Amino acid sequence: MSFKSEINRRRTFGIISHPDAGKTTLTEKLLLFGGAIQEAGAVKSNKIKKGATSDFMEIERQRGISVATSVLAFEYNGIKINILDTPGHKDFAEDTFRTLTAVDSVIVVIDVAKGVEEQTEKLVEVCRMRNIPMIVFINKMDREGKDAFDLLDEVEQKLGLKVVPLSFPIGMGYDFKGIYNIWEKNVNLFSGDSRKDIEETIEISDLASPELDKIVGEKAANTLREEIELVDGIYPQFNKEEYLQGQVQPVFFGSALNNFGVRELLDCFVDIAPKPRAKQSEERLVQPDEDKFSGFVFKIHANMDPNHRNRLAFVKIVSGEFKRNAPYLHVRSNKKVKFSSPNAFFAEKKEIVDISYPGDIVGLQDTGSFKIGDTLTEGEVIHYKGVPSFSPEHFRYINNADPLKSKQLNKGIDQLMDEGVAQLFTLELNGRKVIGTVGALQYEVIQYRLEHEYGAKCTYENLNVFKACWVEPKDKKSDEFKEFLRVKQRFLAKDKRNQLVFLADSQFSLQMTEQKYPNIKFHLTSEFD
Ligand code: G4P
Repeated sequence: MSFKSEINRRRTFGIISHPDAGKTTLTEKLLLFGGAIQEAGAVKSNKIKKGATSDFMEIERQRGISVATSVLAFEYNGIKINILDTPGHKDFAEDTFRTLTAVDSVIVVIDVAKGVEEQTEKLVEVCRMRNIPMIVFINKMDREGKDAFDLLDEVEQKLGLKVVPLSFPIGMGYDFKGIYNIWEKNVNLFSGDSRKDIEETIEISDLASPELDKIVGEKAANTLREEIELVDGIYPQFNKEEYLQGQVQPVFFGSALNNFGVRELLDCFVDIAPKPRAKQSEERLVQPDEDKFSGFVFKIHANMDPNHRNRLAFVKIVSGEFKRNAPYLHVRSNKKVKFSSPNAFFAEKKEIVDISYPGDIVGLQDTGSFKIGDTLTEGEVIHYKGVPSFSPEHFRYINNADPLKSKQLNKGIDQLMDEGVAQLFTLELNGRKVIGTVGALQYEVIQYRLEHEYGAKCTYENLNVFKACWVEPKDKKSDEFKEFLRVKQRFLAKDKRNQLVFLADSQFSLQMTEQKYPNIKFHLTSEFD
């Protein structure tokens, strides 16, 4: 197969949802269709079970699973599909944000009864900002839930999307009869039997046909006719280009658990979802079909076993072919590196591969030289954009609890930050280190890992910070900026890339500072140009 056909047949995407909406179940059903797994229950959820927040064995076990499920690849109708796993637990949201830099599209799963939930809102916002094409799957139609139109309204309002239903439910919960597939113009009848997939698919080219009354009953048929008329009146026609540009989002209804509506979703997905897309670097736009290889690290996974302190760096291939043992430039260190055993990922296993293509993810053994966001190339100096840090939600000083182990502590902190476990800020005033995290759970993970992997002990001390804001002055030499640096010195820090950060202690103080220094911008993400 030619290089171009290899690119064209790849679809790399992520599934995002609020925990419990059905992401794991849907992933599993997709893998079943691809023949990548043989039975349900094979994909282990990487979510941290409720109430297990302090149980480190559990975290460790989950980390093992999460390597196995980081990338789940399978083939369907000649298309190579790579699903990038995104942790559901909100304390690991930063991991998910980073993974979203490596997907070409996403599927958003929403629970029909719960509607749009908090975590979904945050994740969709990130996708929207980047114009990532999204398909919405409304799950659990076998249960009582919200009215379909109300839910579509909620999706538009809360998520800021412009939806186009490509299927529509016939009844719901106890009365759920199936779905009308607007995309293919047929009715799929629901049997409630997960082994049977769909009971029957009946072509209905004209909804006025009495055939419809026969199969779903007169009442349900009439309701469906009215609803589809409404759908036609309210929502625009589906336009693939608009979807690819992130302007409209097709919606499907189904029940992942019952394997219902999943095949329709998958068939439409392989039809419309984008193949690997061009990616912007600081220097230029890089096309996937360029001859020369380039890629970037979006995730680093460390082994928690102190005897095997190797890490696996996940690299998304942007352009060219990645070849085993070929010399590549690690742009940040300006060093040539070679990889003798790059891993490719399949449903539940990884294997050494000789060659990988744009859209694919390779796992590279790393002894500590990679950082999240690093670029690899065949020699060109380019820096991929789009692995930003967001303002953490929690901030604490980190103190050394064992003076004899300060070297180990610093090394441990450095490496954990490179992995993206949390963010480190060093105060300008006194050089004290502040750890910022998305969730409180990370502090325990860091403390545990520093002790078990690096032999270092730490304690924390609370610090009152509302948000970390990356500072961008219009003019670095202006008196206004100089005054800001002087007056706010106590609140200034450097992040790990040496960028200046203002640690605002309250919303009020952030607003006041913004007003007082109108020529300085305060960003809640590290990437703002
Ligand atoms: P997540 O990865 O998004 O967190 O969700 P997951 O797939 O683990 O699903 C969460 C719960 O919802 C699971 O039940 C799962 O069986 C159920 N579920 C998923 N899809 C459907 C559906 O279409 N209909 C119904 N009725 N339920 C669905 P659980 O009891 O929490 O876990 P389990 O013991 O069944 O694994």
